[in-house]
Amino acid sequence: MKKNETLLLIEDLQIKLGGKKTILKDLNLEIKEGETMVMFGPNGAGKSSLLMAIMGFPEYRVTRGRIIFKGKDLKGISIDRRAQMGIGMMFQRPPTVRGVKLRQIIEMAGRRENAEKLAAEHRLAEFMSRDVNSGFSGGEIKRSEVMQLRAQAPDLVLLDEPESGVDLENLVLVGKSINKILEVDQKQKRKKSALIITHTGYILDVVEADKGCMLVNQTIRCVHNAREIFKQIQDIGYEECLLCQK
Ligand SMILES: Nc1ncnc2c1ncn2[C@@H]1O[C@H](COP(=O)(O)OP(=O)(O)OP(=O)(O)O)[C@@H](O)[C@H]1O
Ligand SMILES: [Mg+2]
Repeated sequence: MKKNETLLLIEDLQIKLGGKKTILKDLNLEIKEGETMVMFGPNGAGKSSLLMAIMGFPEYRVTRGRIIFKGKDLKGISIDRRAQMGIGMMFQRPPTVRGVKLRQIIEMAGRRENAEKLAAEHRLAEFMSRDVNSGFSGGEIKRSEVMQLRAQAPDLVLLDEPESGVDLENLVLVGKSINKILEVDQKQKRKKSALIITHTGYILDVVEADKGCMLVNQTIRCVHNAREIFKQIQDIGYEECLLCQK
């Protein structure tokens, strides 16, 4: 794939939960190859739902519009196939997977990196023989999720609040690992793409964002410089941001 090619294109998307309640509407979004987009938005706006829809969870049903990845309409394509196509996701609240050890999931997904090396890097060596997420603390879950993504090596990574619950030291670790997923080079150029949801904006200090956007009232209202959007939200809040005509 050539540089600056569109990786993810969302057109006029409408999502209904179970085909009934509208949770996203009139939503358009483009993420190019090697581009990192950060997404802000108030609680309940629909950010996590958007990630779930891109990943293909069936209850988040596309009732209008299209999600196109690598030029292919994702309609009817299962979650596992989407993962194989190169989409990876970190959940806001991932489930505990009983009966599956963290080592198994890393080895299964591991196309590239050695499981023990990854575990050491993410300070999770003693967690490898535990069931995935079982009894993990909030910060341990985020490290485990980012490690699983490293093993998967997706082309588009969807991160739902990666810094939430992570202490400052581990935030640096998580940020470095995200940058490895994105394959950041010396010039801070990235090979892989990301859509990252954040409330705190901390992630902006560790991952270089190309763009930001704001998801409010079930749709994307603003695509702009990530730091400027964040500053505006801090200064005037979401409601006043909505009055902006830009
Ligand atoms: N599986 C579900 N069952 C019922 N309601 C749902 C489900 N998924 C999403 N919703 C509802 O859809 C709306 C959007 O939820 P979503 O989790 O996408 O918000 P969010 O923008 O991620 O919020 P937050 O910042 O709090 O994480 C909320 O009102 C939520 O209750
Ligand atoms: Mg959410």
